Amino acid sequence: MIIILNHKCHFNLEEFLDYQKRLESIVTPHQLVLCPSFLYLSVCSLPNFLLGAQNVSPYHCGAYTGEVSASQLKSMKVSYALVGHSERRNYFQEDEKQIKQKIVQCLENNITPVFCVGEANKEEARKKIGEQLEMIEDLEQKEKIVIAYEPVWAIGSGRVPTISEIEQIVLLIKKRFPNNPVIYGGSIHDENIYSLKSHLLDGYLLGGLSLNDQRLQRFLSQLS
Ligand code: PGA
Repeated sequence: MIIILNHKCHFNLEEFLDYQKRLESIVTPHQLVLCPSFLYLSVCSLPNFLLGAQNVSPYHCGAYTGEVSASQLKSMKVSYALVGHSERRNYFQEDEKQIKQKIVQCLENNITPVFCVGEANKEEARKKIGEQLEMIEDLEQKEKIVIAYEPVWAIGSGRVPTISEIEQIVLLIKKRFPNNPVIYGGSIHDENIYSLKSHLLDGYLLGGLSLNDQRLQRFLSQLS
């Protein structure tokens, strides 16, 4: 399974370095991916993790003040990048066009895009996710994309769908993209993972849980 840790905008440098030390001892058969703040990519040195980015520029290198391009990320040994996270869509007004450009930039630079999809209202899950998936349909290397199902209402809220609700959406995604790994994210914790396991899932995307190494260890031991 792929387990992605999204640190969001947490930790100052000292806190990050201290936390990183605590992650060193984690041993698991699963593929761990750490997405720290951009600032800490250069001080990340965990042999048990691959590196991920929380964001990527929709543009190639050039005159784009404040941006970080996929080729720059690649040169920092980044293997994965989150794209289309609901916090980027909502707080930074990222639209479909930008999200698609970001995915293309990742694919062209040999970075695996983790394309986040999810509904704001439970009732319109199938419709919304169907629409969001449309954008990757015509991409040549689309089978290299990891699709993350993240209901917007579940992120950071402590509310989670039932496993059968998750499985219904995963099946919908897999019917259209049978070769893509599909992971789930949104309020996953060490206490609820036992009821949120499914053979249909290829991994999890962790926000809050990624900030607590002891609970993370408990989560991982429940998975194996
Ligand atoms: P959460 O965040 O686990 O804190 O709900 C998940 C995410 O934002 O990807």
